[in-house]
This record gives sequence, C-alpha cells and structure tokens, in this order.
Amino acid sequence: MRKLSNILVTGGAGFIGVNFIRFLFENSAVQQRIINLDSLTYAGNAASLKDINEKFGGTRYFFEYGSICDKPIVEDIFQKYDIDTVIHFAAETHVDRSILGPKTFMDTNVMGTFVLLETARKFWKNADGTYRNDVLFHHVSTDEVYGSLGITGFFTETSPYNPSSPYSASKAAADHLVKSYFCTYGLPVTISNSSNNYGPYQFPEKLIPLMILNMIDGKELPLYGDGKNVRDWLYVNDHNAALWTIAQKGRAGETYVIGGDNEWENIELVYTLINIIARKTGKDADKIRDSITYVKDRPGHDRRYAADCSKIKIELGWEQSISREEGFERTIDWYMINSEWTRNVQSGEYRNWLELNYNRR
Ligand code: NAD
Ligand code: TYD
Repeated sequence: MRKLSNILVTGGAGFIGVNFIRFLFENSAVQQRIINLDSLTYAGNAASLKDINEKFGGTRYFFEYGSICDKPIVEDIFQKYDIDTVIHFAAETHVDRSILGPKTFMDTNVMGTFVLLETARKFWKNADGTYRNDVLFHHVSTDEVYGSLGITGFFTETSPYNPSSPYSASKAAADHLVKSYFCTYGLPVTISNSSNNYGPYQFPEKLIPLMILNMIDGKELPLYGDGKNVRDWLYVNDHNAALWTIAQKGRAGETYVIGGDNEWENIELVYTLINIIARKTGKDADKIRDSITYVKDRPGHDRRYAADCSKIKIELGWEQSISREEGFERTIDWYMINSEWTRNVQSGEYRNWLELNYNRR
C-alpha cells in the first residue's frame, strides 16, 4: 500500500473532482491533506465544497485558485504543500464545446498536463536521478480516446487509440505524454480510462443532468441523430473508489480501464429516466415522452462505448457497488432537491461567491 500524505487534486471543483473530495472526507480512514487546484471555468464551482471548506479548510483541505497551465502557481503549490501525489482531473470536458472551440482543450488538456508533469519531475527527483518512492502522478482519462466500437466488443487497456473529437484527441495526447514520462524519465505514473460518469454535481450540459432538469422543467429533450448511440454509465463514486484504489495500490506505468458494466442506448436511458421522474413527481410519463426531439447529429459522434474493466477488478480488487437502479434514483433525487445549486451554476452565481471569498492568484 502506497503511503500518501499531501494530495494535489486538480480540477477538484468540477463534477468528478467535487465527488472525489467528498468521497475522501466521508471516509474516516482517509487522513491526508487535500489541495484542490482549480481555475473555476464555467464547469467549476468551489462552493460545491463550501461545507468541506468550513470544516477542514486550513487544516486538511486547501483550495488554490489558479490554472494548471500556470507554471509558477503549480511549482509554488508543490513547494508549499510538499505534494507527493497528484490526482489529475482538470480538463475541458464537453465534446460539443470542443467542436465549437478546440483551443482551450489543447491548452488545458495537453499543455496543462505537460506543466504538471514537468513540475512533478522537478520536485520528485532525488539527487541520484531516481524518484522519491512515495510519489504518484495519476492521470484521470476517458475511454473516448479509443474511438467508437461497433455493435460488439469492449475497450481494454490494449485497445488502439482512435479519438474522434478534439476533446478525445486532447485527452489521448495527454495520455501519451503521461506514459512517455514513465518510459523516458521513470516518473511514477498511472492512467485510468473511464467510461461516462453520472451522479450529483454534474454540470447540466451532459446528457443525464440535462435530461433530468429538462424533464422536471417541462422542456424539450434533445436526442442527437437516431438516439441509438450507446454509452456505458458508471456511478461517479464507483469511479472515485477505483481512483482511490489505484492511488494506493496501482502499479507505476500501468493503465486501468474503468467502466460501469452498464450499457444503454441513449433513447432507452431517457425512457428509464422519464419513468422514474414520472413516478417521483406525479407527471404523466407519456406527456414527458412527447417532449423528446430528435436533433441534428453531433459531427464525429461515436456510436458505442463499452469498457472491459477486468484488469482493475482482478489486479486491484475493485468492483462497482452502486446498481443502475440505485444510481439513477440517487441522481434524480439529488437534482430534485438541489435546484438552487443548478440555478447557481447556470447563472455563474457561485463563481461570484468565490470571487468574494478567495483572492484571485
Ligand atoms: P468537469 O468539466 O465537470 O470539471 C473540470 C474541472 O476542471 C472544473 O472544475 C474546471 O474549473 C477545472 N479546470 C478546467 N481547466 C482548468 C485549468 N486550466 N486549470 C485548473 N482547473 C481547470 O469535468 P469532469 O466531468 O469532472 O471530468 C474530470 C476528469 O475526468 C476530466 O479529465 C475528464 O476528461 C475525465 N473523465 C470524465 C468523465 C465523465 O463522464 N465526466 C469520464 C471519464 C473521464
Ligand atoms: P455526453 O453526456 O455529452 O457525453 P459524451 O459525448 O462524452 O459521451 O453525451 C452522452 C451521449 O448523449 C452521447 O451519445 C451524445 C448524446 N446526447 C444527446 O443525444 N443529447 C444531448 O443533449 C447531449 C448533451 C448528449
């Protein structure tokens, strides 16, 4: 088991990062210091961790406002907190946005990862050129780097890279860079390629929260193309449990594919969400179904993703623990209860709250 002390979480104010930090603080066995570096793009909301900040701020939780692309900031953080572990989430993540404006994806996902790797290389090296034996750089990546599957087959750690969108291409580039730092410099790295996540705190531009909120608000439900693209949905805290397992036990230089064993055609998934929401709200399911609108397909839209996660199950003993029924129920309940969070992230109010509470670096 790796000894971790000072963990730099990049992008810890985004969907998975917020859930990851909450997951760590809810686990009493976790006693490390968590340093959250986030530049608070439209997708990041430090106030999603307001309660954690109030309870642990300045002792075990530290929020640092800045970009992973900013070398002096990243170096300062490594120095100040004696960082020994990086869990690297920070990224631009929405495929549709990458089609409209790919540059920020290259800047953050590729160059930002480069800055972090260079900093880790600089700070973790011993005088004899080897690395400290208590360090790890974990890169959180996506199964989208492997491109599209046909109706059969699964992604594994040896699947060829074949990205279709500027988003997945930028993540693929970052994966290659991370791997090269292991091969060339011996930097202790691990990579995980996860399938689509869902759960609380996901920005409502991604399929599941967008559909849930539109159903609640009586708005149109836009499905791309024929609605039959397939995704393998993983509950966010099952992903986080996998990441924590890798951080503690993952072998340096290795890649781990993580998935939900939970494939759905988009249309089938939307029907399922409609049934749950109709039951919870008393709305008429047929009426909600009438709001489904087929819209122009996304260019380069991958047809099917499905992850074979046998490696992490066999080697590290990780398993999914949330059933699909429980995951959808929990997520819908969360969005129904937390309408204020949704309003705030959509209006940018939380970012304003942050401007008042933290000094911009
Ligand atoms: P997200 O878009 O919800 O959050 C990204 C976070 O990164 C935000 O808080 C944002 O402010 C921050 N950020 C962006 N640019 C930054 C920069 N230059 N410096 C510092 N912070 C910056 O993303 P997410 O869904 O939480 O995804 C997190 C990671 O997991 C990403 O690397 C993504 O590729 C990967 N991933 C996501 C999924 C998924 O389904 N969401 C699946 C597999 C892998
Ligand atoms: P998304 O949540 O954007 O994740 P990704 O593209 O990274 O897999 O989309 C999931 C699936 O849902 C994908 O096939 C595109 C489709 N989709 C829609 O049909 N309508 C929508 O409004 C959105 C956002 C996605």
